[in-house]
Amino acid sequence: MSKNQRSEIVNPQSQINRVGIIGSGTMGSGIAQVAATSGCLVKLYDTNQAALDKAKSGLEKILNRLIEKGRIDATEKDRIQSNISYVSNLKDLADSNLTIEAIVENLEIKKKVFSELESYVAEDCIIASNTSSLSIASIAASLKKPERCVGIHFFNPAPLMKLVEVIPAIQTSKAVLEKSIQTIKDWKKVVAVAKDTPGFIVNRVARPFYGEALRIYEEGIADFATIDNSLKSLGGFRMGPFELMDFIGNDVNYTVTETVFTAFYFDPRYKPSFTQKRLSEAGYLGRKSGKGFYDYDENGKRVIQNDSVESHDEKLLETIFNRVLVMLINEAADALFLNIASAEDIDNAMTKGVNYPKGLLAWADEKGIDWCVSTLDALYNEYHEDRYRCSPLLRKMNKENKTFF
Ligand code: NAI
Repeated sequence: MSKNQRSEIVNPQSQINRVGIIGSGTMGSGIAQVAATSGCLVKLYDTNQAALDKAKSGLEKILNRLIEKGRIDATEKDRIQSNISYVSNLKDLADSNLTIEAIVENLEIKKKVFSELESYVAEDCIIASNTSSLSIASIAASLKKPERCVGIHFFNPAPLMKLVEVIPAIQTSKAVLEKSIQTIKDWKKVVAVAKDTPGFIVNRVARPFYGEALRIYEEGIADFATIDNSLKSLGGFRMGPFELMDFIGNDVNYTVTETVFTAFYFDPRYKPSFTQKRLSEAGYLGRKSGKGFYDYDENGKRVIQNDSVESHDEKLLETIFNRVLVMLINEAADALFLNIASAEDIDNAMTKGVNYPKGLLAWADEKGIDWCVSTLDALYNEYHEDRYRCSPLLRKMNKENKTFF
């Protein structure tokens, strides 16, 4: 197959057809699959040969499953596989016109790799990072041409999750930003452009889903199962907060919360929870360790405890749901207030990045901005904690009788 044939799916406008991916772990291998499926020639690089082998055999399994499900045929499988080569030398990425880094979340290591990479690639190669928690500005600063650096943040699993956050650093050029957005759209993903601030959109706006649920539990208002049930049955969330924390891993979820909390100069809105910290310390990481908020069997299936004290009191379920929802809405409204992203992108981010049943700003319109303000003010008056402060945007909109959409 010729190079031209292999890359025919890519939109010629984007000019991106040779993609280098650094790190072949969970994210790197998923991103490689996305780019190769769109017709790009991908070089997947890792320092660890075992990780490269695992990425290759993992892709084979995934593609076979897609064939079984009738989503692709054998020719398509061959096309995708032949678009990816597995390399163990960073120099092999020299002919890329886009590189996406997905290695260990360590600024010093990333900086070292970025500055070496820049010495191999062409002047106009875009150098992107998939980091979840480091600032793009700090990574860009390791480059001689920092204007070519941008954040391109996928969600796990990358081939399935529609959303990609694109994050320009203060150094990023307009052309690099536009080309990155076009490329990600060509890869059939939904782009949300986010400001280079901690957690970008999703990992910031989603914090209360976990934090407020944990707080409700810690106050003794309800048990895990009741809180989960409230958000699933009344909110339509696919998983409750405790199920989701067990799924993500309590170690991983706790670390994200702690990182965001620290990065926001200890804003009490993002305060981590001792309950989750203790679980993490005890090794009760969730599904992957067989025990977290719930117990799991060896296949990762939840074991239903017979001594569950789950409540079905409708009023209690409503109170829990409203409290978590209003805190999420407040976070989304504040992200808009601080220009982290547009209202459309904030709502898209939550529905396409973490499968929320509805965008939070659309949800605020539906519940009524006056309801949001009065519910938040009631919480603030009860606790007198800064955590419950209502976003100035909600208050202003309420006064002016405005809605988000
Ligand atoms: P992972 O641990 O699965 O994979 C990292 C890979 O990078 C490993 O194969 C490792 O051998 C390789 N690596 C480490 N140092 C390297 C170096 N100096 N040069 C080349 N390869 C090196 O990690 P994962 O989960 O894929 O995360 C990667 C990045 O993506 C991190 O920055 C993380 O914050 C970000 N991210 C992770 C998400 C997740 O849900 N796991 C979601 C979105 C972003």
